[in-house]
Amino acid sequence: MRSETAPAIRLEDYQPPVYRIEKVHLTVKLDPAETEVVATLSVARQADVQAGTPLVLDGDELSLRELKLNGEVLPDDGYTVSPGKLEIHAPPSKSFDLKITTQINPEANTKLMGLYRSSGTYCTQCEAEGFRRITYFLDRPDVLAIYTTRVEAPKTDCPVLLANGNLMEKGDIDGTDRHYALWHDPHPKPAYLFALVAGNLAQVPNRFTTASDKKVDLNIYVEHGNEGLCSWAMDSLKRSMKWDEDVFGREYDLDVFNIVAVSDFNMGAMENKGLNIFNDKYVLADPETATDQDYANIEAVIAHEYFHNWTGNRITCRDWFQLCLKEGLTVFRDQEFTSDMRSRPVKRITDVRLLKTHQFPEDAGPLAHPVRPRVYHEINNFYTATVYEKGAEVVRMLKTVLGDEGFHRGLDLYFDRHDGEATTIEAFLTCFEDTNGTDLSQFALWYEQAGTPVVSVASAYDADRQTYSLSLSQEIPPVPGQRSSKPAVIPLRFGLLGPDGKDMHATSASGINISGDVLLMEKSRHEITFSGVSSQPVLSLLRAFSAPVRIDQKFATADLQFLAARDNDPFNRWQAVQSLAMQELVRLTGTIRHGELGAPADGVVSVFGAVLNDQNLDPALKALALTLPSEADIAQEIGKNVDPDAILAARKQLRQAIARQFHGALRAAALEFAPRGDYSPDAETAGKRALSNRAAYYYAVSNTEDAAQFTWDRFSSADNMTDRLAGLMLLVHDHMPGETAALDLYLSRHEKTSLAMDKWFMVQATAPGDGTLATIKSLFSHPLYDATNPNRVRALLQSFATGNATQFARPDGAGFELVAESVLEIDKRNPQVASRLLTSFRSWRALDANRCALAESTLMKISSCEDLSRDSRDIIDRTLQ
Ligand code: PHE
Ligand code: ZN
Repeated sequence: MRSETAPAIRLEDYQPPVYRIEKVHLTVKLDPAETEVVATLSVARQADVQAGTPLVLDGDELSLRELKLNGEVLPDDGYTVSPGKLEIHAPPSKSFDLKITTQINPEANTKLMGLYRSSGTYCTQCEAEGFRRITYFLDRPDVLAIYTTRVEAPKTDCPVLLANGNLMEKGDIDGTDRHYALWHDPHPKPAYLFALVAGNLAQVPNRFTTASDKKVDLNIYVEHGNEGLCSWAMDSLKRSMKWDEDVFGREYDLDVFNIVAVSDFNMGAMENKGLNIFNDKYVLADPETATDQDYANIEAVIAHEYFHNWTGNRITCRDWFQLCLKEGLTVFRDQEFTSDMRSRPVKRITDVRLLKTHQFPEDAGPLAHPVRPRVYHEINNFYTATVYEKGAEVVRMLKTVLGDEGFHRGLDLYFDRHDGEATTIEAFLTCFEDTNGTDLSQFALWYEQAGTPVVSVASAYDADRQTYSLSLSQEIPPVPGQRSSKPAVIPLRFGLLGPDGKDMHATSASGINISGDVLLMEKSRHEITFSGVSSQPVLSLLRAFSAPVRIDQKFATADLQFLAARDNDPFNRWQAVQSLAMQELVRLTGTIRHGELGAPADGVVSVFGAVLNDQNLDPALKALALTLPSEADIAQEIGKNVDPDAILAARKQLRQAIARQFHGALRAAALEFAPRGDYSPDAETAGKRALSNRAAYYYAVSNTEDAAQFTWDRFSSADNMTDRLAGLMLLVHDHMPGETAALDLYLSRHEKTSLAMDKWFMVQATAPGDGTLATIKSLFSHPLYDATNPNRVRALLQSFATGNATQFARPDGAGFELVAESVLEIDKRNPQVASRLLTSFRSWRALDANRCALAESTLMKISSCEDLSRDSRDIIDRTLQ
């Protein structure tokens, strides 16, 4: 029998809950296989609901042991129970206490949802629907309750007992080897923010004093031996707390803020009230095992989870369709934090690259959905780049449209008006309307419409009249299930560059709303005329990437070169270099596909030389500008009939051409920018290291006599992980001499450090070349491979499927097969990890005919499997649609 598709949940069907749960008292008696959970719920019927209306609680893999209503055992005919639901047929009064005793098996919980064990530590994950795996409950975000949690466990196994809120009491349980801790969280919260942790963990303490002089105890809990790896995370936390006070006026609201790092976690981290639980890769760092990128990620994720305390926890979502209410806004906030801590342009470019490589393809393929979806089958599949990253772009546009002040006025009202509530996107937008006297109904389309709008641009200059005219039109390409689309509000930051590279100022402009340097598109077409334009300008559009759109504009190479050299918007300077490279890479790919040799145009190669030699460019920006568009980016630009082998070859050609022409300067830069002295993860030093390694990346293929030795030395003499990993990648991905020796050396150095070993698996999985498939298969039986650890699976398989286009989409179909088999195997244990891996097929229709057919038959095979999880069933159905 084919596994069944879960029923569709629709936004339009939303109904408020018929009962409230106002208080929850939980006693959790921990045991590896037989944990007992006693939940006492104070339940109240809603005012407008009829007496006797059944109370239907959610459950998942629960076994009910006892059920009491107002202290009395409920007679058998008073309720119906299954592992998935508990229905009290006719509750007797308007409010009552329900005491539910269930038993669960944390040890057998391989889905890592609900209560499970990770390296012996008990921990929970409840978002989105994991609390129902702990006890029967109204497991929906609009049921807000005050939680008191008593955790009981053996003293020796679990000296640390944690739950949400403040610690009330702690003590021994007389006559046993067990102890307990009692935690109380005074803030009403939805069940998805519940958390509990118990284990033998080391505590790294610290302290923060809030602006109103409240002392907050901060703790990071990690496995013993990892205490020394928490200082960066702790420092990031303190800076986040301060920044949220300074920039958003938000203070922390409990006596303690705890973070626990665990090594088995499906996602990045979780913002449980007062007790954040983290994938340890976003906590642990030292120079020996973490890269600059890891340090930056830790800072951002710590901040993100902390910021959720206001955007997500104090104000939460009414239903899961509103996920972007907390996620889009919180990503926006963490992006701003990073911009303030580091370099704003570097952060912007990094985020846009992420958006373009993850969200744009999602929006262009079968899994496309609006920032606020209208329907889902499995909510776990909607923690997507669209909800998170495009959701943040929408908030950013709101800020651009309203201006900084107007934006903050609206947000202040939002915090004020909705504190303690579970609310919606509409309510959020209304706060901005009310404080700015504007109508945001057209803006709201950004939450409703899937697909990336394309803005087409044509321009003409009339020297006699001194006018510059611009035609702008917008269109959203067809999206599955979306019949038509309406014009969106698109804020386009722009400049008209004069011959001196400075922005010109037109005396007037007609045909569009302009405020400051922003053109506000509101119609599907705008004919704009600027007057008083004294010479032919070069248009710099979408500065700072002011809207998540694609620009379709024919550029003369000379104009792109001019922008690359002169635009005063750093983002668009970077973009111009990328566009030049992209044009050339697309052209080269075509040439190679026709069986010709081709050669990169000198003009493009020399732009890279100019960037390299520009003394005024910040090293971090320079490193980004020197980064070629990725294979996935090029594939996306080509859009259909994609041949990944031709793309790889084209990219290699351009890389080599740059390397050969500028080998001297590259070698010098690789040496000059390598920071000396003690390692520091700060943005400036990291930027220099990035440039040094970027130069080394080219130099490795420069055909010079010492290129191989130079690369080997980088790897082997590196005194930090950033340089070591950069060197290893070059040796392995370019199959240079010493490739195997390097992998062995790395292994012997890092075999005891799980996070460092993830990188070892990742490097091998992403190596181009026919041998990779065999390597992966042999790595499956490597003693350090662990198919139950999500980070390890992602390191080997997710990175292969998303970061190794030529081998994943091998013309013999073996790459697809490998991933499909793994999906099926993992799906039995951990559906969330499996379904995420399955999304790597999302762009299959863009491949050439042969690969497309192979992908389709692989997908059909998966689809025909019995017993797929609902997570994977949902993805496969939509991918094949
Ligand atoms: N809410 C988490 C975040 O964005 C992500 C998450 C979702 C974690 C679901 C676990 C499960 O910070
Ligand atoms: Zn989040």
